[in-house]
Amino acid sequence: MAEHGGRRRRLVMVPSPLQGHMTPMLQLATYLHSQNFSITIAHSDFNPPDSSNHPHLTFLPLPTNTSGTDISAGFTNFFKTLNNNCKTHLHNHLIQIINAQNNSSDKESVVVIHENLTFFAGIVAGDLGLSAILLRGSSAAFFPAFNIIPQLHQDGNFPPPDSLLQEIVPGLYPFRYKDLPFVGRPIDQTLELVNMLTPKTTLSAFIWNTIEFLEESALTQIRNEYKVPVFTIGPLHKIVTTCSTSFLEEDTSCISWLDKQAPKSVVYVSLGSLANLDEKVAIEVAWGLVNSNQPFLWVVRPGSVRGFEWIEFLPEGLADEMKGRGLIVKWAPQKSVLAHNAVGGFWSHCGWNSTLESVSEGVPMLCQPFDVDQLLNARYLTDVWKMGFEVVVERGEIEGAIKRLLVGKEGEEMRQRAMQMQEKVKVAVSDGGSSHNSLKDLVAFILSL
Ligand code: UDX
Repeated sequence: MAEHGGRRRRLVMVPSPLQGHMTPMLQLATYLHSQNFSITIAHSDFNPPDSSNHPHLTFLPLPTNTSGTDISAGFTNFFKTLNNNCKTHLHNHLIQIINAQNNSSDKESVVVIHENLTFFAGIVAGDLGLSAILLRGSSAAFFPAFNIIPQLHQDGNFPPPDSLLQEIVPGLYPFRYKDLPFVGRPIDQTLELVNMLTPKTTLSAFIWNTIEFLEESALTQIRNEYKVPVFTIGPLHKIVTTCSTSFLEEDTSCISWLDKQAPKSVVYVSLGSLANLDEKVAIEVAWGLVNSNQPFLWVVRPGSVRGFEWIEFLPEGLADEMKGRGLIVKWAPQKSVLAHNAVGGFWSHCGWNSTLESVSEGVPMLCQPFDVDQLLNARYLTDVWKMGFEVVVERGEIEGAIKRLLVGKEGEEMRQRAMQMQEKVKVAVSDGGSSHNSLKDLVAFILSL
């Protein structure tokens, strides 16, 4: 067990119940366990992780009572309820640990690692005099872009008028007003969310699942503003091997299907764990895939096409056309899919995990960002790293975009750039690389608390 000055360290890690957030927390927990920390994952009982996949970790379910609160329809309310309802239980649990220590000669210091969506854990840590560290599962760029919204609103520039949409936001180069989080949402809800999620407790440090070379400018900005250590330890999935962290069962049959496809011929389509499509849009996607004449692997999450359980929205003729040309699954082992030689392009909503996973495998992308940090990530992909372009969701446009990415010269150039990025990622995560070193520094930092 990790020890410093005769005291052992217990880490209480508090993930939010979103797929894109649970995964990096469990990956980090697995790494820190390998460094001899004892770990408790204190998690909401909504979307709980599968504890049997992580026998080395201790799991503490927190009764959340969010039933009836729809996470995608009422995001702010959902997290308000979760933070209110989980607080007391975590508080009592930490008191128990502290009391047990007071009565024992075997001393253990407790450090809390939480996310911005589980801010109650930071409050509880502060009340009990414990150190709290914030883990961020989205890009570093998202943080300043999110925090600047109240100021822009006060200046009359958010929501941005049409005349500003294409302009760069002062201080946020290369991001434009149109890339800002929640740009199309009702402003009252956005301000409420920003207010709720702005850290109000003293943090000992930040951990970011990003890489120094990807986001130098945003990281410099954050370091200048917050005078606490910032650890950049991504992409965690390239450093830590974990059993599946998926809430849904991964359909691994797609790997043997990929084995039969030509190298770099398949377009992989997945819009993450939260985005939903209207029936009309989903049908455009289906026709675009069919007409492109490229093999496709399409993840249609159950319930993600509004009004349908799964793929009943496909009219008979279209369903027949799709057969033999591609595969539709409910959930894929995405990291293995992207690492497969048959995959030539990734059509994505540009969630941060998906972005990092594609960059790590050198796979160029078709970008269809929806909300939150996804527009910023898409801007990185299309205009900074130049390894992808935005797709317009209309069947003719899709057909052209897939061909442009998979068979055109331009797509080949994007692949070359993506592969150069992949090489840099390999350096960052190997011995002496920036993420490797940052993880070591993080361990030393926690031991120093
Ligand atoms: C959310 C936000 O949308 C995202 O913008 C933010 O950065 C993190 O939280 P999500 O929409 O789920 O996440 O997207 P993303 O961050 O890409 O995470 C999805 C995860 O699910 C990835 O790790 C991906 O590998 C995994 N996945 C997705 C699968 O394992 N199988 C699938 O079929 C689809």
